[in-house]
Amino acid sequence: MAHKGKNVLCGNWKMKLSAAAAKALALELVPLSRELRHSQIWVAPSFTAIPDVAAVVRGSALRLGAQNVYGALEGAFTGEVSVGMLKEFGCEFAIVGHSERRIIFGETNELAAERAAAVLKQGFTVIFCIGETAKERKENLTGEVLEAQLWALLTKISEADGSHLIVAYEPVWAIGSGVVAKVQEIAEAHMTIAAIWKKRFSSACPPILYGGSVTADNFAEIIRLDLVAGALIGGASLTFESMQKLARISEEAGSC
Ligand code: 13P
Repeated sequence: MAHKGKNVLCGNWKMKLSAAAAKALALELVPLSRELRHSQIWVAPSFTAIPDVAAVVRGSALRLGAQNVYGALEGAFTGEVSVGMLKEFGCEFAIVGHSERRIIFGETNELAAERAAAVLKQGFTVIFCIGETAKERKENLTGEVLEAQLWALLTKISEADGSHLIVAYEPVWAIGSGVVAKVQEIAEAHMTIAAIWKKRFSSACPPILYGGSVTADNFAEIIRLDLVAGALIGGASLTFESMQKLARISEEAGSC
């Protein structure tokens, strides 16, 4: 799914909103989405909330996706959901390789990359999350970690598959911590990601989102960075008021 050069404000609702709460928030976000010229709002509810949210967003400018997806077309994969199942409800993207999947549920670089590659090959948009831990940053391993996580994917896809890819730089230490990365750190990481892409492909680097403690207080300077195409937002995506503030900031900054 093309984001057409607009800033992407993607709410990752994690395991935080019931179907009823997700539907109520989507109802508020639909009219807001319609007003935006330079930005798009994307939301990733829990699987169980997707049908209710889908009914609300149908035909609107609000984009619906999932927090995870499996690459196989169908089969004995207990607990997993396929691209076809997501499409049935109008989902247009899925997040893959979130650090919570990697750290809590043991998804390795290899597994996250295999998932994402199989999904991209089906022409479905993937937001592929990568990022270093606090320890890795302290040990100056950020570049190596980003390369290992992204390279695992880039060696499994073609340049054409990459046209459906969005990369999210989410430093693990910034997620849910209230400690946002400094603009310099974000700029450097995004340049590193672009350089890794260039090692493999000659086409333009995919859009790169920043994620980790994004709020209305810190977003203005982040969205103005050259290589930042938007944000993957956790806590601050859970209320309409906060999303409205973020959308206004994004609109003031203009298109990426
Ligand atoms: P927070 O915005 O709550 O730090 O979460 C970020 C995140 O993990 C988005 O995927």
